Amino acid sequence: DHEVDNSPKDEFQELLQTLEQHMSWDGQRLVKYKGFWFLVMIFRPMLFARKNFKAKDTDVIISTMSKSGTTWLKALTFSIANRDRFTIDQSPLLACNPHTVVPFLEYNLYWEQENPDLEDIPCPRIFATHMPFDFLPDSVHENGSRIIYIGRNPLDQFVSQRHFLLENKIGKEADHPLGVDEAFDMFCRGIHSWGPFWEHMHGYWNAHSENPRKVLFLKYEDLKEDITSQVKKIAEFMGFPFSLEEAKQGLIDQISGLCSFESLRNLAANKTGNNLNGLVKNSSFFRKGKVGDWTNYLTPAMAERVRKLMESKFEGSGLIF
Ligand code: A3P
Repeated sequence: DHEVDNSPKDEFQELLQTLEQHMSWDGQRLVKYKGFWFLVMIFRPMLFARKNFKAKDTDVIISTMSKSGTTWLKALTFSIANRDRFTIDQSPLLACNPHTVVPFLEYNLYWEQENPDLEDIPCPRIFATHMPFDFLPDSVHENGSRIIYIGRNPLDQFVSQRHFLLENKIGKEADHPLGVDEAFDMFCRGIHSWGPFWEHMHGYWNAHSENPRKVLFLKYEDLKEDITSQVKKIAEFMGFPFSLEEAKQGLIDQISGLCSFESLRNLAANKTGNNLNGLVKNSSFFRKGKVGDWTNYLTPAMAERVRKLMESKFEGSGLIF
């Protein structure tokens, strides 16, 4: 039994009792709060982060649905922001996993601490979260900090998530998970960690549409297609555009190369060890790194179901996957 008991022991316990709960397909407990499904184990750290995190104007918040390119985006933003501190061959990414370098609010910083002191982290601070847009701490909404979201085709996200959970065996039923049909059905009903996926994406997409200087909306598929232009875009958005000189020196290619799937996956630091409080293997963040792997696991009928879902949920918003 690998399930972590991070269950709330106080006011959250009471709140939890009042909320709808459901078992995920791998046996982790989910709770529904304000329209979203959260892992029970993440509920308390998330609410603490939401309540106590104080953003600085220079902060960058990486927001994602899990398995949508978080690791990649962490590596890229960290490298872009710190390129004057470390040359490529001195990068901390060569020695540790991107999740060590850019922590999650809920899985790391607020996991055990109600109000950790984050003041001394060098600026620009980069933090990550899987929280839906409306759940972000008030200071993030109110100050000059910037948010970078990365979305991914939900079919690939589902397949990636399924492999990740089966490999790490976090849930109680990890040895006897529900089959792919049932798991997919729950996914389409929005009953999955951080789900419904369409609400998650839509929230950030709308925020981006309303204020593109506050929220950058990236797609995993676009990074796969043309990493150079996306890295430039990220750097500009973060307020650290590449100079002509840097571009001539090949710095954009060097950063893209360091952060590429092949490069990161082959580092010793990413082949061994655990992360996110020992819950998951570092290596499990690097599986295939491909677009369209869903075709190896899901049927055209399943794809059609998601296509229709997205069509109705995203109608008129301009969001397409
Ligand atoms: P697959 O399971 O489809 O291979 P996250 O980082 O949000 O947890 O997402 C993990 C997914 O991103 C996995 O997808 C993983 O292989 C892929 N990934 C991790 N690092 C990557 C990189 N540097 N470039 C491209 N894809 C990467």
